[in-house]
Amino acid sequence: MDSITIDGVQLFLSNPTTLEMDWIGQPDVMEQLLAAWATIHEADLPMCPRILGQPGSGKTTLAYAAAKKINKEVYIFQCTADTRPEDLIITPVLGSKQEIRYHASSLVTAMIKGAICILDEGNRMPEKSWASLAPLLDKRRYVESILAGIQVKAHPDFRVCVTMNQDASVFEIPDYIGSRLQPKITVTYPSRENEIAILKYNIPFAQKEIIEYVVDFLQKAHKADAAYSIRDGVNITRFMLKLAAKEDHPMTSDEMKSYFKLATTKVLDEDALDVLDGTKKRKKISFPGEINKQLFKIDDLIDKLDHGPFDGDDDDDEDNTGVADARGQPARKKKK
Ligand SMILES: Nc1ncnc2c1ncn2[C@@H]1O[C@H](COP(=O)(O)OP(=O)(O)O)[C@@H](O)[C@H]1O
Ligand SMILES: [Mg+2]
Repeated sequence: MDSITIDGVQLFLSNPTTLEMDWIGQPDVMEQLLAAWATIHEADLPMCPRILGQPGSGKTTLAYAAAKKINKEVYIFQCTADTRPEDLIITPVLGSKQEIRYHASSLVTAMIKGAICILDEGNRMPEKSWASLAPLLDKRRYVESILAGIQVKAHPDFRVCVTMNQDASVFEIPDYIGSRLQPKITVTYPSRENEIAILKYNIPFAQKEIIEYVVDFLQKAHKADAAYSIRDGVNITRFMLKLAAKEDHPMTSDEMKSYFKLATTKVLDEDALDVLDGTKKRKKISFPGEINKQLFKIDDLIDKLDHGPFDGDDDDDEDNTGVADARGQPARKKKK
């Protein structure tokens, strides 16, 4: 295991992530990401963009492919609701001789090596973890490890970006962090042509007709604002092919339709099939504004509980998108 000594403290480094991932279509978001990372003058600093989009829309793929495009090593840090500040920076581990060894996170390893770090699904992380990153994300470009008692400065070539899902199961990031995570790069639904190319790339052994059938479904879903993603499309196609593998002939058109139905019900749900004839939409993903509306309702309820008898007939029977985080606590309120 690689190690490096900083201010007398030996740090053991993490390993980079190597994946086969290319970015297909949508060159504009790739351009924006690379532009944000570029420095155009010796007095210039790279930016720390956030990549937004629905789950399965290609955020992690975009970040990874962009890093590969500029021939950089990539370190992915998977953020969760349980990520503690020290997990992001340096964690002490007991060695075989009962000694304390300090392990640099993938983020800190990328900082030291001048590589790229993707903070994946950053808004699953609570505020106190974000706080430890504030100096890294502005012109100071360092982090402090309280546990190891050292400061780690980022290599000039170090770059970072954060991917964020726009769904209800996340924290709102605090404003002082949000202002450092700029620009916002949004991954949207691909065109039919690009979506076919993406599915082909992911499942090169699938028949053209099957891919086109699944993409037609996805495109209808996008138009209906049903939150089905490319990942769903990849999963449906894969499962269709696995189910049909027992047949001793290429899939017929009728078999394709019935395997599609079965795979879609299993990967998504019964309602998803309604997208095909345009009769029903999947419940839309809730965006921060909607979370806010729900939160004010909760504030209201708490207020009632605090200040007198609660009559209990609050109209909460409409589209009940979750406002709880992964641990069942409400998401934090977003400031304007
Ligand atoms: N433009 C694209 N080029 C190549 N693959 C893509 C593209 N967009 C999405 N995908 C595929 O879609 C799936 C989900 O992408 P991922 O990056 O994991 O989504 P997210 O991080 O937004 O949840 C992956 O299988 C990925 O390969
Ligand atoms: Mg992702």
